[in-house]
Amino acid sequence: MTPQLADLFEFLRFPSISTDSRHAGDVRACAEWLVDKLTGMGLAAELHPTPGHPVVVARNAHVSGRRTVLIYGHYDVQPVDPLPLWKSAPFEPEIRDGKIWARGSADNKGQMLAHVLGVEKTLREQGDLPLNLIFLFEGEEEIGSPNLGPFLLAHRDELRCDVIAISDTGMVAPGMPTMGYGLRGISCCEVIVRGPKGDLHSGLFGGAVANPATAVARLVASLHDANGKVAVDGFYEDVRPLESWERDMWAKVPGVSEADFLKGTGSPGLFGEPGYSPAERTWARPTAEVNGIGGGYQGEGSKTVLPAEAFVKLSFRLVPDQEPSKVMACVVSHLERHCPPGVTLEVVHGHDGKPYATDPHSPFGKAAQDALREVFGKEPVLIREGGSIPIVQTFREILGADTLLLGLALSDAQVHAPNENFPVENFEAGIRLNQALLRCLSVKSEI
Ligand code: BES
Ligand code: ZN
Repeated sequence: MTPQLADLFEFLRFPSISTDSRHAGDVRACAEWLVDKLTGMGLAAELHPTPGHPVVVARNAHVSGRRTVLIYGHYDVQPVDPLPLWKSAPFEPEIRDGKIWARGSADNKGQMLAHVLGVEKTLREQGDLPLNLIFLFEGEEEIGSPNLGPFLLAHRDELRCDVIAISDTGMVAPGMPTMGYGLRGISCCEVIVRGPKGDLHSGLFGGAVANPATAVARLVASLHDANGKVAVDGFYEDVRPLESWERDMWAKVPGVSEADFLKGTGSPGLFGEPGYSPAERTWARPTAEVNGIGGGYQGEGSKTVLPAEAFVKLSFRLVPDQEPSKVMACVVSHLERHCPPGVTLEVVHGHDGKPYATDPHSPFGKAAQDALREVFGKEPVLIREGGSIPIVQTFREILGADTLLLGLALSDAQVHAPNENFPVENFEAGIRLNQALLRCLSVKSEI
């Protein structure tokens, strides 16, 4: 095993699950490991405690007149359940079929460490980097980065930079260099519907008392029209229409056709807003999704109960220029208007994040494409992403810098699911990509 893979395996062994307080010590230990790694490479690295999980910042010796690049990543991961579906233990990385199997291998430890190891390699080969570098790594991305915005405000001057690079997104097909120039935003909530003061016998009371589970089902059904368009008043109001050059460009992107979506998801059919391709629906159109739903008896067999309450967890993916709080206000008023009689409704707001899009043809965008072309030997495709990295728009607002997304995760990476994986080949390409990227971004005359 190469020393780089050995480093990745150590990094992957920390169960740094940010949402689960039982793992707070593991998250911190993972941050400490990072600080040691970065310090060992000759960078000045610091662990900054926050009210939640730590932020790690590292930098080389900055030289005035050089360009400053900030590289962001997250070392926290999503929970592993359902555990029985994993072929190998999520925090005991294993290589099978040329892929590294572990929670966080793709999202985001493998991609993030490729940046770190690319820098290590350049430092070893050249003694210095061609530019001023800031590494900013957080442990709360998977829970909506609640403490990173305040951290940016408090450290705005030290974090000032010309451009930001992130590898925490996808690559459309193996070996196909992919630059992302947009991310969807997100707004989450949980809806709790309450009826009688306690569970009731469904024979004695059903038909006379409203059923909260039925009410939840009606509310969920009211979110879309029969064709798949979101039916919430005002929802599409601030949506920036897709540009025709984007539609033309995306029509040629490999790996995202209807057939690819059908094959990749194993779904018997596709469904979504009429008039848009699957790529357009996920990259540039807003959506409403049910992430969890419950109420009433969930055990084996039947139980004739009329549940006292039921819930649904919703998330809305947003696109420029939608505002999460404005969208959530539309959703709440929609839910209130559609709530059937005989039950009460409570909406608990969850985390949110703004959508983001930048110009892929900017000078920095072109420099990143040069690096991708050099490493993969192909013309990069330019996409927006369906997922969210809420801090990216905040970077723009607080640090005044735009972000380039250099994704390395394949569509079958199973991020957030059992059997997450990352090809060894992509990890190694990521190391080379970092080296090329820093070189391309440092060239002053072109920008
Ligand atoms: N790395 C993902 C986002 C991603 C994955 C973007 C693949 C594009 C392609 C990130 O870690 C993530 O999962 N973000 C969450 C954010 C949420 C918890 C606020 C998401 O998108 O659900
Ligand atoms: Zn994630």
